[in-house]
Amino acid sequence: MKVLVIGSGGREHAIVDALARSPQVEKIFCAPGNAGIAQQAECIAIRETEIERLRDFATENNIELTVVGPEAALAVGVVDCFKAAGLRIFGPSKAATRIESSKEFAKDLMARYNVPTAAYRSFTDYTEAQAYVASRPLPAVLKYDGLAAGKGVVIAETLAEAESALKDMLLDDKFGEGKVVIEDFLTGPEFSFMCFVSGTKVWPMVLAQDHKRAYDGDKGPNTGGMGAYSPLPFITAEDEEYALEKILKPVAEAMVAEGCPFEGVLYGGLMKTPQGIKVIEFNARFGDPETEVVLPRLKSDIVEIFCAVADNKDAQLEWYNDATLGIVLASKGYPEAYEKGVEIKGLDTVESTIYHMGTKRIDNRIVTAGGRVLFVIGRGANLTEARENALRDIARIDCDNLFHRSDIGHWALD
Ligand code: AMP
Ligand code: GLY
Repeated sequence: MKVLVIGSGGREHAIVDALARSPQVEKIFCAPGNAGIAQQAECIAIRETEIERLRDFATENNIELTVVGPEAALAVGVVDCFKAAGLRIFGPSKAATRIESSKEFAKDLMARYNVPTAAYRSFTDYTEAQAYVASRPLPAVLKYDGLAAGKGVVIAETLAEAESALKDMLLDDKFGEGKVVIEDFLTGPEFSFMCFVSGTKVWPMVLAQDHKRAYDGDKGPNTGGMGAYSPLPFITAEDEEYALEKILKPVAEAMVAEGCPFEGVLYGGLMKTPQGIKVIEFNARFGDPETEVVLPRLKSDIVEIFCAVADNKDAQLEWYNDATLGIVLASKGYPEAYEKGVEIKGLDTVESTIYHMGTKRIDNRIVTAGGRVLFVIGRGANLTEARENALRDIARIDCDNLFHRSDIGHWALD
């Protein structure tokens, strides 16, 4: 089988690597890919949102399965475009992607189908939004409604902070014209529960947790994720069962009932609060960097499951019992401005799996090409061993312009 993966980060490298383990896969293409992916796939210079060009490439090259990584491609309708051309593709339609791209759609769906989530209301009018915030306990959680690359959420500790954020979102249209969902602040550990979903069929993956802050001790600015690990000792089998039966399955059924059946990965960003497990958000795709620690634990052939979802058939998933813990090497300065093009040496001395997040090959050198550059995944019988292995290998990577967190997994380990 010839397959195409759309995207260019660590998540797509993990998908390519999982596909490469399948005996059914003859050739992998990746658009646009990166220098690490290029070791396992042929990279094609088409951007992830150029969906007609991607479709034409898939048609001309007899691609039998396409797998979509990033939300940007889904939100512009790559799946609809491929399906209209009779191509098999793994991912949700543009209508189903609204579970991620529209906070209001997701919150309304949860309210209608009794899925546990924070109390909320949504607003377009500044004065009404301001009055609602003033009537609720602090902190207030303000979410700009739309794809804001993770930067559209403000946790306001004071009324003044809330008002200033509402001004940005509703009066000054800082992210474009839009709505704001205002919700109650929840507390507890967060975790990511990804499921393969095909209509009402739901196959759970093993759980993972990512670390969003830039520096050790969960200090510093929010990032796209600085590390992740799996499994999660603080989430019990009963918690997992509850999340599956009361959250993921009802939402899959709700999407069918609403006329936009979900096909692909439904990602529940969940929180274990003192009042039980609640939804923080949904994503319509594999999480990044969670996928990089979850897919290495998949024992089954991933092609079977991608095709079962796309063709609405049955499949079985098996997982390894070991632990994975991945640490991001990011460019110094990230998530603010950073330098690119700095050479990375020592990659061939590393024993752990490395997924490339933002690298480029120039002649025979691998250089940095993004904020998050490499993801080093240690494995072991438990998380302690997995972290030791990851840190040992990070010490072997030689690059002047990278930093990493040393405490990934601390909620479970320290
Ligand atoms: P979101 O984009 O909805 O995932 O929000 C980004 C982050 O903001 C989450 O990962 C949480 O850490 C935090 N957050 C979002 N909603 C809430 C909430 N209702 N209560 C507490 N924290 C929240
Ligand atoms: N790790 C969070 C996300 O993929 O959105």
